[in-house]
Amino acid sequence: MIFDLLKINNVRNISDAYIEPNAFLNIVIGPNASGKTALLEAIHLLARAKSFRTPRIKDVIQYNKKELQVVADIKNHQKAVISTGIEKSHGSTLVRYNSMPVKTISNQANNIPLVLITPDSHQLVTGSPKQRRHWLDWAMFHVEQTYLRDWKAYHKALRNRNIVLKNGGNNQQISSWESCMLDSAEVLNTLRREFIEKLSTQFSKLLVDQLPGEIRIVFDSGYPDKVDFAEYLAEHREQDRKLGYTRFGSHKADIRFMVDENKIAQVYSRGQIKRFVTLILLAQARTFELINQEKPVFLIDDYGAELDSQARADLLSSVVAYGGQIFITSTEKDESLSSLEEISMFHVERGNFNKVVK
Ligand SMILES: Nc1ncnc2c1ncn2[C@@H]1O[C@H](COP(=O)(O)OP(=O)(O)O)[C@@H](O)[C@H]1O
Ligand SMILES: [Mg+2]
Repeated sequence: MIFDLLKINNVRNISDAYIEPNAFLNIVIGPNASGKTALLEAIHLLARAKSFRTPRIKDVIQYNKKELQVVADIKNHQKAVISTGIEKSHGSTLVRYNSMPVKTISNQANNIPLVLITPDSHQLVTGSPKQRRHWLDWAMFHVEQTYLRDWKAYHKALRNRNIVLKNGGNNQQISSWESCMLDSAEVLNTLRREFIEKLSTQFSKLLVDQLPGEIRIVFDSGYPDKVDFAEYLAEHREQDRKLGYTRFGSHKADIRFMVDENKIAQVYSRGQIKRFVTLILLAQARTFELINQEKPVFLIDDYGAELDSQARADLLSSVVAYGGQIFITSTEKDESLSSLEEISMFHVERGNFNKVVK
């Protein structure tokens, strides 16, 4: 999928922007606080109805304005041009896709698949299991149609088990929720494991001597391997009762990124982690493409921050080889960017975007 046209109103300092992006690479250059991240935020808003920087829409709508608007023409792999847009005020959200109102945001997220890299993306490696699960859930939601349904079923059963635990319910009540958890946990585990395998395959194709050591991506299901989950839950019931919540299960799943026998977070430098995460997200985009025959749009904010020139050049060559539509923001136009062909360059200043004519 690609963006053919973007119109943005009242997103942060972007009052009124009209951008015709390239189908391939779009480089957005501008000084600090010019509106680079705001552009990516606007694209993210259109796809997910929220920002990646703040949960509060108030922060994103331009000061003294009532609503923001992002409208786009997009092209899918069948080359059909579809118009889509979002209007968001303090109290309401309106999303349209192909002239029809979109009722659930997850449908719109499916219409506009994005992969985002920001200076915070290293948290996929260095952050909490919760952050990794959040990423895994989104990645899986995009490639597996039934995932959201099973995820919801699991969490409903989990919430109910926790309520019964807290209220001192009897074993029969608890065990009935456990069997619901068990059913969906098995499905989630299988789907998650399959996804991690596909991701690892794509990752190993991308990783050509960029990072040292033998890298492995290991899935943790949230309870010990080789135990019967139903029995395991039953065995831990009494202690879960005392705590008032469920300690084991799919809601505690994690992904371990390993190099040789260590966690990547404990061994790699910050720059190496950043390159690793970029490669993982590229592998995610390729996995998506294999399943959906569509390339997600890649958004890279502040590309090159914290990297030396060699690392920047390596990273850029992996990203360029992706072949889908890419938006890269940077404060500087460095050498590796200047040498690229088939690109559009935009200068941004005070929320105004101008295409640089070559
Ligand atoms: N709600 C808002 N209304 C208007 N301007 C805002 C709002 N929120 C932030 N800004 C301003 O928008 C500008 C662009 O921010 P940002 O996109 O983060 O810049 P960049 O990524 O180029 O460094 C900044 O000057 C910031 O102060
Ligand atoms: Mg920024």
